[in-house]
Amino acid sequence: MLSKERDELTANKGKPLGSKRSTYEELVGRREYLLSPISSQDWPNLPTVRAEGLYLYGLDGKRYMDFLAAFGAVNVGHNHPKVLAAAREQMEKQIHGAVGVTLHESVLRLAETLPEILPGALDMFFFGNSGTEAVEGCIKLARNITGRPGIIAFLGGFHGRSYGAATLTASKSVYRTALEPFLPSVYHAPYADVYHSSHPDDPAQCTKEALHALQTILDRLVHPSQVAGMVVEPVLGEGGYVPPPKEFLQCLRRICTENGILLILDEVQTGFGRTGEWFAAQVFDVTPDIMAIAKGIASGFPLGAVCARRELMSRWTPTVHGTTFGGNPISCAAALATIEVIKEENLLDEAKRNGKYLLDRLRDLKAKYPVIGDVRGIGLMIGVEFIVPGTDREPNPTAAKKVLNECLSQGMLTYPCGQRSQTIRLSPPLNVTRDQIDEAVKILEQSLATV
Ligand SMILES: Cc1ncc(COP(=O)(O)O)c(C=O)c1O
Repeated sequence: MLSKERDELTANKGKPLGSKRSTYEELVGRREYLLSPISSQDWPNLPTVRAEGLYLYGLDGKRYMDFLAAFGAVNVGHNHPKVLAAAREQMEKQIHGAVGVTLHESVLRLAETLPEILPGALDMFFFGNSGTEAVEGCIKLARNITGRPGIIAFLGGFHGRSYGAATLTASKSVYRTALEPFLPSVYHAPYADVYHSSHPDDPAQCTKEALHALQTILDRLVHPSQVAGMVVEPVLGEGGYVPPPKEFLQCLRRICTENGILLILDEVQTGFGRTGEWFAAQVFDVTPDIMAIAKGIASGFPLGAVCARRELMSRWTPTVHGTTFGGNPISCAAALATIEVIKEENLLDEAKRNGKYLLDRLRDLKAKYPVIGDVRGIGLMIGVEFIVPGTDREPNPTAAKKVLNECLSQGMLTYPCGQRSQTIRLSPPLNVTRDQIDEAVKILEQSLATV
């Protein structure tokens, strides 16, 4: 955009120049004026006007394949007709009613339905609006019912932006910059991140060392009797799309059980079919005491939940937590429809099948392009990590950024993750087709030619 136009927009307080419909440049200018740099400087700020299935339709008239699916929030695809119909029907009846002050059927029906798909015996719920709120609720619940202050979180984990969740977050130090003091009594242990460990070819050794470090924290820093909960992502999301060895999560379960610590799984990104099961807990055979869910739950309508066993949840002191918008009727109706769609369209199987197909195709690319250091994932939660060729896994965020930009210019949206943003995440809607995957891999390969 020309600096003259930018000056005019600033003088015009971000309002569109003239009466004509917003052009791409005008939108960008208004964004910079009106939105905090926190959002306006994110990437790519793609102006879109419509979304359907896998596709986002840009203001520039182009169609984009959405291989991010809003960070796993639209697992059944954008604007699924069943989700739209359910939301519309509810909207006609009642848009809002604060749960507790009023009561509506969709929140109860959702609470009745969730235990059918959740791991273990999670059968009581507190509904909020987002992932970060679900994590806050988990921390408050665990502390409130155990009377213990300590929380163990893991390096590489991302749990949200509100203060409690930001305290647990350790995927990038920049997310923690100039925010202190954080919540007290939070301790970070290493995650069993095999590729980035000193034993990239030995998952068992990596697991052993991560667990040893955790034991050291419990021996030397915080006695287990003082720990309320252990909060862990079953697959690192923002931290690099990293599935840990199964044994790691199973050992965490054992350590928690032995010490009366509540195991809290953050399934905000891994939930609702993303990993080929309803939840990653089912992939890893681990049963949490408490779970945070959000994102994919309602196909883009804001909703999240703290899920716990009745025996735990019913001990949460009334009034110690609450919400105005959480469990909104439209979001709950959309969630019920989303669960139906996942069942009807067999999307768990689709995620497994499509995920394997995409993973195999990406491994072919890795064999051809030494700039790809690792390809990993479960279901349709797949990461492609870029390294400096010829080095020992030196992160290559420059290559990742170039590929991301080139993919976007060829009509495919993805997003970086990982400590240095050196990994590209591929998390399309679960009903992506083989042809669409082939097209995405072709775009990715053409983009690789630029690095
Ligand atoms: C694992 C995980 N937990 C929590 C959050 C926070 O969710 P929200 O952005 O809805 O607050 C995210 C968001 O990316 C996430 O990936």
